[in-house]
Amino acid sequence: MVESSRTYLPAAGCDWRLPLYDPFVKLLGGDAARRALLDQAVLRPGQRVLDVGCGTGTLATLIKQLHPEVEVVGLDPDPKALARARRKAERAAVSVQFDHGFGDELPYPEASFDRVFSSFMFHHLPAEEKGSTLREVRRVFKTGGEFYMMDFEGPHGVHGLLARVLHAKKTLADNAEDRVLSLMREAGLTDAKKVGRRTMLFGGVAYYRASAGLGPSTDAV
Ligand SMILES: C[S@@+](CC[C@H](N)C(=O)[O-])C[C@H]1O[C@@H](n2cnc3c(N)ncnc32)[C@H](O)[C@@H]1O
Repeated sequence: MVESSRTYLPAAGCDWRLPLYDPFVKLLGGDAARRALLDQAVLRPGQRVLDVGCGTGTLATLIKQLHPEVEVVGLDPDPKALARARRKAERAAVSVQFDHGFGDELPYPEASFDRVFSSFMFHHLPAEEKGSTLREVRRVFKTGGEFYMMDFEGPHGVHGLLARVLHAKKTLADNAEDRVLSLMREAGLTDAKKVGRRTMLFGGVAYYRASAGLGPSTDAV
């Protein structure tokens, strides 16, 4: 198991609740919300896809099940969640690479991915790591890359059971649409927009999309 001195907010808020995370999120409609995120992307054989903050690997495994000819990588700082993710992919008989790491220090070279996904992850980042995480997403994009992100609405969204049980209100206070979109633009992502929302038992979730633009070669400007 990988040790790291960096802290992070784990999937269920604390380790002992992690075994409850998947059934709880499923019960409250999280699987359907992730599926809707995936359905927004056109994936082609041979593409490389990253799920940043993959947690227990539900989305990464689903991507590989539905798109077997796409190469799927999931990344998360939580070794316990990664262990669950690996077991989940194994049970589903799909091959997914699960890596330990943080969103603002992606362990991949530039131009590594065609698509990056992020579900229920952004509100776990401290305010000062949000911009640097988005810059990393842009750095690892190939030209033409696309970013698909879904997270709880904030700060004025209707937050239901899941958000209230798992997370302090303050993690959602920094998740307003304007803030998310301006961070994406500042990170050099282009065409950043909110493309939809969903009201669920556990509250409102927002869907965002952004593009890599011309890719890392424009970074030197
Ligand atoms: C609510 S969970 C969502 C997990 C998964 N994406 C899903 O749809 O269930 C948030 C995840 O973000 C991860 N996380 C926290 N800080 C992170 C960081 N700095 N970089 C990447 N992931 C992070 C947590 O370990 C956790 O697994």
